[in-house]
Amino acid sequence: MTTSLSYVHGYSDHEARRLEDQADTLAALLHGGTSYPAGSRVLEVGCGVGAQTVHLVAASPEAEFVAVDISAESLAEARARVTDQTPAARVTWLRADLFQLPFPEASFDHIFVCFVLEHLTAPQRALTTLRRLLKPGGTLTVIEGDHGSAFFHPHSAYARAAIDCQVRLQADAGGNALIGRELYPLLTSAGYTRVTVRPRTVYADNSRPALVGGFTRSTFIGMIAAVRDRAVAAGLTTAADWDRGITDLHRTTDADGTFHYTFFKGEAVRPESD
Ligand SMILES: C[S@@+](CC[C@H](N)C(=O)[O-])C[C@H]1O[C@@H](n2cnc3c(N)ncnc32)[C@H](O)[C@@H]1O
Repeated sequence: MTTSLSYVHGYSDHEARRLEDQADTLAALLHGGTSYPAGSRVLEVGCGVGAQTVHLVAASPEAEFVAVDISAESLAEARARVTDQTPAARVTWLRADLFQLPFPEASFDHIFVCFVLEHLTAPQRALTTLRRLLKPGGTLTVIEGDHGSAFFHPHSAYARAAIDCQVRLQADAGGNALIGRELYPLLTSAGYTRVTVRPRTVYADNSRPALVGGFTRSTFIGMIAAVRDRAVAAGLTTAADWDRGITDLHRTTDADGTFHYTFFKGEAVRPESD
């Protein structure tokens, strides 16, 4: 059964830079409150090019990490990045499918998953599978976005339509770019207890130029702009409407523009009685 789709963002250099920009710009917002005690065993699932891994190991230098991704190329890049930036980090790298991980039940104290569920056809099954890898009482941290949370000034129906094309393409591939709002029901139905989900909002205006550049322009608009050819080929838009949408998105990065997006960070526990 195929449970992870052809990864909608691809594995290009451009995508690797986008993930780095995303992680670096948002590190405090996304990683705030996440650190693991000395000696704890932590599994990072879908580590990609290591954009989150560098922040995880920096926040928890005494924890032992296992970082897993299905892409050998991304994993190699992650390994090089983390080794370069944090040579003392304790990370074991593993190429594997998260649905078939070679670990016995209750192997980990904590699991961290960021921007992975949105690409899976079976996110609830993924969460159930990962729950069994946690020790009873162990925690899962999961972070996802939700493209429905994007709103901006000046408003533009063309810009909204371009975002909706990306949502549609991801859905057609079996994923869900609107998954952030579903984290709470997904976690509870996957058997976790003490589930909390909190919004982590990015709001960028001209008073925060690093966010405008690093998030609105590089991360968000970069991600939407990358699907132009596929959106046009799929007949979801015309080249002219698409280009107007991207132009209007860039307009929100002008001095009088504003942009809002909400990530959702969930924390959940494997029940002691599980
Ligand atoms: C959007 S990237 C996120 C990478 C990283 N977590 C971050 O936040 O920068 C999603 C990653 O999940 C990986 N992935 C997708 N399906 C997977 C699966 N079934 N098992 C393991 N990794 C998977 C992809 O290869 C990709 O590297």
